[in-house]
Amino acid sequence: MSQPAIEDFANEDRLFPPPQGFQAEALVADDSLYREADADYEAFWARQARELLTWETDFHTTLEWELPDARWFVGGRLNVSVNCLDRHVAAGRGERVAYHWEGEPGDTRTITYAELLAEVERFANVLKGLGVERGDRVALYMPMIPELPVAMLACTRIGAAHSAIFGGFSPDSIIDRVNDGECKVVVTADGGYRRGAPSLLKPNVDEALESCPSVTGVVVVRRTGSDVTMRDGRDHWYHDLMAGAAPQCPPEAMDAEDLLYLLYTSGTTAKPKGIMHTTGGYLTQVAFSHKYVFDLKPEHDVYWCSADIGWVTGHSYIVYGPLANGATSVLYEGTPDTPGRDRLWDIIERYGVTQLYTAPTAIRMFMKWGAEEPEKHDLSSLRVLGTVGEPINPEAWMWYHTHIGGGRCPIVDTWWQTETGAHMITPLPGVTDLKPGSATFPLPGIGVEVVDDNGNPVERGGGYLTLTRPWPAMLRGIWGDPQRYRDTYWSHYPGRYFAGDGAKVDDDGYLWLLGRVDDVMNVSGHRISTTEVESALVDHPAVAEAAVVGATDDLTGQAIVGYVILRGTAEGSDALVEEIRQHVAHKIGPTARPKRVIVVPDLPKTRSGKIMRRLLRDVAEGRDLGDTTTLADPTVVDAIRTSAAEGPGSGG
Ligand code: WTA
Repeated sequence: MSQPAIEDFANEDRLFPPPQGFQAEALVADDSLYREADADYEAFWARQARELLTWETDFHTTLEWELPDARWFVGGRLNVSVNCLDRHVAAGRGERVAYHWEGEPGDTRTITYAELLAEVERFANVLKGLGVERGDRVALYMPMIPELPVAMLACTRIGAAHSAIFGGFSPDSIIDRVNDGECKVVVTADGGYRRGAPSLLKPNVDEALESCPSVTGVVVVRRTGSDVTMRDGRDHWYHDLMAGAAPQCPPEAMDAEDLLYLLYTSGTTAKPKGIMHTTGGYLTQVAFSHKYVFDLKPEHDVYWCSADIGWVTGHSYIVYGPLANGATSVLYEGTPDTPGRDRLWDIIERYGVTQLYTAPTAIRMFMKWGAEEPEKHDLSSLRVLGTVGEPINPEAWMWYHTHIGGGRCPIVDTWWQTETGAHMITPLPGVTDLKPGSATFPLPGIGVEVVDDNGNPVERGGGYLTLTRPWPAMLRGIWGDPQRYRDTYWSHYPGRYFAGDGAKVDDDGYLWLLGRVDDVMNVSGHRISTTEVESALVDHPAVAEAAVVGATDDLTGQAIVGYVILRGTAEGSDALVEEIRQHVAHKIGPTARPKRVIVVPDLPKTRSGKIMRRLLRDVAEGRDLGDTTTLADPTVVDAIRTSAAEGPGSGG
């Protein structure tokens, strides 16, 4: 038999069926959607598109597919802001709350659907007044304030595409994105609140715009009241323009395949990729997945996705999915430890949040802070918990289930990407028996296969995750670079989309995500996933968080190096390090025992919370560090180097 593409060690046999009471009330409680989609996936998506959305002109063809180009709902016309706002107001639900917004300092705003529509129409007229036309691009560089969804929806109303740039990015990142998209207008704010202090945005825009010739206008929301420079003729205050704007703005009827937005994501080269999402297919799949994956009952629920709108999770599951479904959401500006480490739990208690959607990295941080933080609050309103962004280790899954979900809430572990636009692999909470750490099965209508090096499907065991057919919310390309689109996603395996993730299939057909393929280590010819070793490390009672890299090794090709953060009370020592190494060997086998375990005070993360393994590899291999500009906290790396040279596990 040939060598498996990726070794698979971990074994998880705990099973959590949907709680009976939950299942009795769930939107879906059986496999009917799966069977319907299996029979004819195009007809399935056509039904969802017609049921979940309001079309100005019905589509005549569900799908035209000529790899790598897909066109969904051909001939259909619709407007996204109408689907997210007008139709709810017209149906008498204008008084329903769209967002319970909470600023980090504690200020709040309650915004109904009627109010949101009114603000969007005015701002759409503001954009028109600045010369924005159908087909243009508008850059958004904003904090988590209501004006951000307002600006997004205003773009959709007039048929302009938005390009949101995460507020943590530097002027250089703004320049790359604004110039690549040739944006005409930038919407920003003086700043936003983070960790109890104003964090400034406008000065970064000023610096960037020295090098952005396409921009003719800037709109600035006053949020913090900080001093900013306003350039005459170019910069305008949001409140001034809104005061003079006409209240009504008729929506543009857009083609289903018109560009809705660009969102940049990093690739293997330095130049970020402008991922293109279009109108009808995207909105169909985000509405569908938001409704069924979170078991949404919009009349009662208070849904909360704690991501930043500057990432795809916020686009799809704070703005477009929830609003298309007429949901009530919480929108929170700041950090989870301001003023105290119970801020999230306090918000859940006060608003009666029913669904919480967050990231494994956040959950591991909450674990580190201790169960006493959530225990200060009544979290009994919660019904469904979600995770996204990286594989969740079973340990964190169990903690989330026990301490946040009170043992009664299904956890939906949702695998997807900026490129997929919407959930792809995830449980349905009223249907799927859960295994901690597994994203379980593809959503109805989605085709997934794990393949080996030669592109042959793997029935059982590890390999590469591929998607076997087009899906409505799929990216339509990389802005300005069709060749890169084809090469990156559609050229590795004939006829398949290559996701860049490792995955394995277990005996019951459950899917387990194993991290990015370039995070797969090769130790003595065994390809071992960083994720499985990390899970085993975090399984040790003294370990709070772990990151694993493969460092070049003369003997074994690569050697496993684990960086661990200890729990509050644990003391680092050589004996403990040895015990942790043995723990991994015991959990998943001696081949996976890390050659080194290094105790560190913190791990280097991007501002979206992803661990920067590249930097850890540099440290492990004693190299000079490459680009550190996307690090959330650049000082972390020095601390890690010192630990690697002198701390427990250094061997020195
Ligand atoms: C990873 C975020 C395991 C994966 C929506 C993917 C996950 C990348 C999961 C996309 C999950 C996301 N389990 N891994 N539930 N969700 N990922 O573009 O490696 O920021 O390819 O989109 O995150 O990250 P992106």
